[in-house]
Amino acid sequence: MKCFWCYKQKKPTNSINSSAPPTIESGTEVSTETVASGKQSSWLTSSSSSPSIPGIYEERLRNLKEFDLSELKTATNNFSRLLKIGEGGFGSVYKGFLLPTKPKDRKTVVAIKMLNHNSQQGHKEWLAEVKILSVLEHPNLVKLIGYCAVDGERGIQRLLVYEYMTNKSLEHHLFNKPSSVFPPLPWITRLQIALGAAKGLDYLHHGFEAQIIYRDYKPSNVLLDEHLMPKLSDFGLAREGPFGDRTHVTTAVVGTRGYAAPEYVETGHLTSKSDVWSFGVVLFEIITGRASIEPNRPKTEQKLLEWIKKFPVGTKRFHMILDPRLRNPCSIDSVRMVATLANRCLLKNPKDRPTMTAVIDSLENAIIQEQACHTDPKLQQPKKEEEKKEEEEKEEEEKEEDVGITESFKRRMVLLAKMGDKHNRRKGKFQTMHVSI
Ligand SMILES: Nc1ncnc2c1ncn2[C@@H]1O[C@H](COP(=O)(O)OP(=O)(O)OP(=O)(O)O)[C@@H](O)[C@H]1O
Ligand SMILES: [Mg+2]
Repeated sequence: MKCFWCYKQKKPTNSINSSAPPTIESGTEVSTETVASGKQSSWLTSSSSSPSIPGIYEERLRNLKEFDLSELKTATNNFSRLLKIGEGGFGSVYKGFLLPTKPKDRKTVVAIKMLNHNSQQGHKEWLAEVKILSVLEHPNLVKLIGYCAVDGERGIQRLLVYEYMTNKSLEHHLFNKPSSVFPPLPWITRLQIALGAAKGLDYLHHGFEAQIIYRDYKPSNVLLDEHLMPKLSDFGLAREGPFGDRTHVTTAVVGTRGYAAPEYVETGHLTSKSDVWSFGVVLFEIITGRASIEPNRPKTEQKLLEWIKKFPVGTKRFHMILDPRLRNPCSIDSVRMVATLANRCLLKNPKDRPTMTAVIDSLENAIIQEQACHTDPKLQQPKKEEEKKEEEEKEEEEKEEDVGITESFKRRMVLLAKMGDKHNRRKGKFQTMHVSI
């Protein structure tokens, strides 16, 4: 699902310095008014920055590689369609192979995101992404290797080069697309992915000098490495949160329909709790295997948050929201814990929603509950009636088979013994008979 852009506040006033390599002087201001007073300077969105961050940014920027376009063309076989691995609002994503710097080394596999031509908004996103990923480092954030910026006669070209994530995005695993080659994720893996993503968000909210609000948390932005470890990607919409005694920032409404918090969509008031809302939506997607909005379902089931209301956590019907592909949640209690947490993330008043730090605690408890259940059979969820019946029938069949074999075996032995008696009587000696059963 693509991002939406809906300007409720002022449109950007500053012109874009399109020839910019990503220096902090690039001047790419988006609307950044605060409630309390006029303007708030933002490290991400304007040239006037909070004091400590630019230094770190400039220092870390040096660790990023600036690529020539020709290098990236070679890496992707001239952006061959065969190497295209995805397409989003920003542009297309290609798998690429960077030539080794030393002859004996192997090629490095990367993902290369190419901005749609002449997209001014794209340039802002690109710049925000470079700024954020050059400064922030966390195991649950995707790693940016470098960037490429070319301004030619035919327009601007902006590219980003990331570490390649072998297992694509959570979206590919969760929603049963016909093209999906992945087997369904077990419940415990889903919990671990949610926990990793929560840690990434918590780091953005609390792990750095300036608070960063992600604004686009959704399964397609949760990439998975070869061990299914989640990493957040797409920081083009991220922006600095309120600081000092400010409660929120007021900004243009951007994000993805179905994931953005209602108060943010209605008022443009942005806090870290907007991300918490989106996290709650994705938790329900993880439980149900259904996307937040599915236009192809019957009307009453199209909006996930409406549909799940029919199956409250405390009722017997609750288990009916479980993803049918999810065959093995050991304890329904851990699912209930996650649904309860999701409901808290989706509370109307943002202040009542938990912080991402509290979300991490709750998810860790759910994981402990699920793991304990694997080792302690007493905690295992009572089996569904049909499953029980099926198992009983199977046991019964197996018993019958046993009886059948024993009875026929006995009958055969008796018969053979009689034949043997006859034979021995005839020949006067007894022989062992080999019977295959
Ligand atoms: N680093 C990466 N490694 C492997 N695949 C990636 C990487 N980055 C992106 N992709 C793939 O490209 C797809 C498109 O990503 P992109 O972020 O451009 O769009 P999106 O998230 O699907 O949509 P939107 O633009 O609305 O965020 C992803 O879903 C993922 O499958
Ligand atoms: Mg994305």
